[in-house]
Amino acid sequence: MRALDVIVAKRDGHRLTDEQIDWFISTYAGSEVIADEQAAALVMAIFLNGMEDDELAHWTGAMIDSGDRLDLSSIDRPTVDKHSTGGVGDKISLIVVPLLAACGAAVPQLSGRGLGHTGGTLDKMEAIPGWNAQMSLAQMREQLQSIGGVIAGASASLAPADRKLYALRDVTGTVESIPLIASSIMSKKIAEGTDALTLDVKVGSGAFMGDLASADALARAMVRIGQAHGVATSALVTRMDDVLGVAVGNALEVREALDVLAGGGPADVVALSVALAEDMARLAGLDADPAAVLASGAAMETFDAMVRAQGGDLEAGLPSAPHRRIVVAGSSGIVQAIDARHVGVAAWHLGAGRARKEDPVSAGAGIMCLVRPGDTVAAGEPVLELHADDEERFARAEIALEGAIPIGDEPVDPSPVVIETITDP
Ligand code: URA
Repeated sequence: MRALDVIVAKRDGHRLTDEQIDWFISTYAGSEVIADEQAAALVMAIFLNGMEDDELAHWTGAMIDSGDRLDLSSIDRPTVDKHSTGGVGDKISLIVVPLLAACGAAVPQLSGRGLGHTGGTLDKMEAIPGWNAQMSLAQMREQLQSIGGVIAGASASLAPADRKLYALRDVTGTVESIPLIASSIMSKKIAEGTDALTLDVKVGSGAFMGDLASADALARAMVRIGQAHGVATSALVTRMDDVLGVAVGNALEVREALDVLAGGGPADVVALSVALAEDMARLAGLDADPAAVLASGAAMETFDAMVRAQGGDLEAGLPSAPHRRIVVAGSSGIVQAIDARHVGVAAWHLGAGRARKEDPVSAGAGIMCLVRPGDTVAAGEPVLELHADDEERFARAEIALEGAIPIGDEPVDPSPVVIETITDP
């Protein structure tokens, strides 16, 4: 087989054969026989011409087969996970993983670190003193059986073809393609060995997908892929125009997740956590009421056990940044929005996120929203509190925040966070 023929077939709008897909992915992942420029040409052809459903399912399968698929069959709890396409202030995994574990499931959440303006779950967990993201498969299985929840770093052996393709897409303008995003996410999630998966597909200014039509199409593509691979999969399309909750930044978000686990926390974070947990419980076949389990304090106990099992110590206190700066309202009126993208980019400038994957992140940096959409404010009243390790970071964050909090006369109706649920794509 020749790489050129595969590229030309997709360039001319044909469905790739299963043999072409298997050969291309396994050869590109495994050796240097296919040059990066040829793989780049193929992903650009996919970007431009798309993929049919069964072609995409096969492509994803080839990416899974490029590495290991974890075998969690020895665990006698039903396995279920969630994946979010990434939002600002999205600390939901810290709540939902222990919540589902407390409902009786095993949740094998393997993730990566954050890049750009949306934070990664591992970065948040690593704000907890002593907590360690690296686990062997044997440790993971043991913790899934005994406690039910694991949040850990994904090993390099899961879907290695994705790592190579993603790096290539990043530098060739081919990230924003529904089949390529869907196969990238689903290859990693299916490889982690879960039987069921709820996807949180974000839409809005702070999300990867800015409009509902694209978010809906991505959600349906991912649900079809999951179901084609025997994973019970559904998707919630959820709003990401405003910051989720009030805390953005690693340790700040851990604190907010702890508030929710303790029975408090912002209403939107609670609502989304419960909606996702209900869907996960349904997919896992559990007869549990996540809202009641959350209220009982059982999820907090499970989170504490998960943290301790991985060397973390919540009693040691969370790090906080030494410098603070207040941003005030420019006029009087009603807060129309707390724009997620502006706040995410500002938190990133403060040190909460990274520009390159090898950069460190600050555990304490971030932003606390002191008001919510719909609140009435007076000119000069504090609306945001910025946290940084280094005062020099404030200037760029303040520039990024220009226009982040529009103030007007219109009353703001709280919009439900879940826009639609897709079970049958
Ligand atoms: N996240 C992924 O894992 N892959 C993509 O292609 C986009 C977002």
